[in-house]
Amino acid sequence: MRIAVVGSGTMGHGIAEVASISGMEVKLIDISWDILNRAKQRMEESLKRLYDRGTIKESPEQVMRRIEMSTSYEVAKEVDFAIEAVPEILDLKRKVFEQLDKITPRDAVLATNTSSIPISDIGEITSRKERVIGMHFFNPPPLMKLVEVIPSKYTTEEVTNFTVDLAKKMGKVPVRLKVEVPGFVSNRIFLRLLQEACREVESGEATVEEVDSAARNKLKLPMGIFELADYVGLDVVVDLWKVIVGRGAKDVSCSSYNKKVESKELGVKAGKGFYSYQAPGKYSKV
Ligand code: 3HC
Repeated sequence: MRIAVVGSGTMGHGIAEVASISGMEVKLIDISWDILNRAKQRMEESLKRLYDRGTIKESPEQVMRRIEMSTSYEVAKEVDFAIEAVPEILDLKRKVFEQLDKITPRDAVLATNTSSIPISDIGEITSRKERVIGMHFFNPPPLMKLVEVIPSKYTTEEVTNFTVDLAKKMGKVPVRLKVEVPGFVSNRIFLRLLQEACREVESGEATVEEVDSAARNKLKLPMGIFELADYVGLDVVVDLWKVIVGRGAKDVSCSSYNKKVESKELGVKAGKGFYSYQAPGKYSKV
């Protein structure tokens, strides 16, 4: 099985890592070698953690050997499946799909890791919209079991089943959506949690730390709600809101997230969000 991953950022490098761990031959594509080298370093760090814990049997070097990195789409010309994980900008995603449509074999399945954009809006740009599907991973992909599989109104049953099976082969637990609802299944719930948490803080009823303590100790979430927002990226949270409100969801976003983004406090990746971190990109609080 050969798979291309386009975009090697937070999600892309994690998806490439998961695919290679499951024995697939991976082509990881991005626009510059600086970005790809950073992705390589992040995959190696993650693989080392998984190896040290005994989660994977192969050494990080063995897993990395199946991942070819490139700044050219040419490496995708013989893949069976391609997944895009570039930022949530429709035009950008469409450009990626135009390229993938040109270069990959006619029967290859093209997937998007979008968390909010309708799959049909992306698929329509290709000559094979019935072979385009949503495959939404969660951060961090090597640890999070859930994968949402989202067929568009054009996607065939065969392509949907193929993608569900692929997720299982990657050791994931796929949840197959019946229709393309905004926010899919889990982000709809996630955004409501973020909204309520934010209201509690803005109204002075509780502090950020108190809300997070309640989330950990009562709801038994692995992270507090603001910790998770910081982890995902506050810009990602705000973008997600915009897209689902633009698609008809009630606008109940909370201004604290926008304010943080305006002051460039984007969460873990910026070293500061609702909490402060030891360094940008390091999930370790000060
Ligand atoms: N790769 C490999 N191993 C990793 C890792 C990674 N990327 N990140 C953490 N680990 C390992 C650590 O090394 C540690 O291993 P150890 O037990 O052997 O020391 C173990 O996982 C636990 O990590 P930490 O001690 O650093 O911290 P936690 O116990 O809090 O676990 C977590 C981290 C797994 C991220 C956990 O907090 C968690 O599950 N958080 C919730 C994440 C979540 O909900 N993600 C979804 C976000 S929404 C999304 O992505 C959708 C998008 O559309 C917005």
